[in-house]
Amino acid sequence: MQISIQRTAASRLNTIDFNDLPFGKIKSDHMFVADYYDGAWHDARIIAFDSISISPATSALHYGQAIFEGLKSHLNPFGVPLLFRPEQNSRRMNLSAERMCMPSLPEELFLEGLKKLIAIDKHWIPKDPAKSLYIRPFMFATDDSVGVRVSDSYTFIIFTSPVSPYYAQPLKIKVADKYVRSFDGGVGSVKAAGNYGASMFPTKEAYTEGYHQVMWMDGHEFKYIEETGTTNVFFVVGDKVMTPALDGNILDGVTRKSCIQLLKDKGIEVEQKRIDIHEIVAAYKQGILHDAFCTGTAASIAQIELFNYKEQDILLPPVATRRWSNYLNETLDAIKHGTVADTHGWIVEVNEQISVAG
Ligand code: COI
Repeated sequence: MQISIQRTAASRLNTIDFNDLPFGKIKSDHMFVADYYDGAWHDARIIAFDSISISPATSALHYGQAIFEGLKSHLNPFGVPLLFRPEQNSRRMNLSAERMCMPSLPEELFLEGLKKLIAIDKHWIPKDPAKSLYIRPFMFATDDSVGVRVSDSYTFIIFTSPVSPYYAQPLKIKVADKYVRSFDGGVGSVKAAGNYGASMFPTKEAYTEGYHQVMWMDGHEFKYIEETGTTNVFFVVGDKVMTPALDGNILDGVTRKSCIQLLKDKGIEVEQKRIDIHEIVAAYKQGILHDAFCTGTAASIAQIELFNYKEQDILLPPVATRRWSNYLNETLDAIKHGTVADTHGWIVEVNEQISVAG
């Protein structure tokens, strides 16, 4: 499909203070949009980032057929924009779409639209390597009807936002004992907007108690660890690295799978299994809980300072002593910035040249 390009006549780039980039607040100049109706995608276009006008009856607002993805772009030392495993986001978005009864979007269209958008707004990618351009693809149902049924029409959009790191410090986490993020047969393994809406109340409650995030547990016994906040979670116990297995309730994180591969490259086979919280507490008491960290696109590798389980604080060792989370953080960062060899072919360079006229 042809992607039409209409550049903004009034770039906002010069108004942005790149030293002050609160996560997700600032939007770059352009967005990629495509509409689905009559059983096909139409009118793929890059236009100025702007508000959209929708009917109050738009079905996504009522019944939640809405899904999203997240990825980032960084500059390599030559100033070329890089994307990290974007095909994984396209695939996962289509899995989310299938579960939410939404249309799939061809991978070529996702990647073409994404690369053109990044090429046009490449000056929005922060030069400071600690910062990045966060990319938000999403799709929502647009039928103008409050009948509860599968929508016939959808809009897909990608916009971007220059950002600072999502978390500024190691995390304090509250283990959930009352609320669940996900349950068997639900939508926990996909990136449905509703998963995040449902997590707001418990997260706010944890926040008011002084925690940054919630550690989600299984919905049967509140015994098996699933995820942390908006990320996957890893533990280092003795010489073993472990993460909850993908059981249908857990998001198949791109950073999660990349960490598993990077550890494998170092000869460490990550145990993917049901992790009983009591096993982790016992390891803490024995002094062999060496590390706990969260992995996600926005968060990257976020080390856990402590988590609270049944009124007990489980304290992790000082972050400087954490072998594997520090290794993963540095290695992933270097791969994403193109400063080490990309041995797995994870990096996509954005070399598109787009003329001023589009
Ligand atoms: C991401 O890591 O991209 C996420 O989806 C987490 C959050 C910003 C919602």
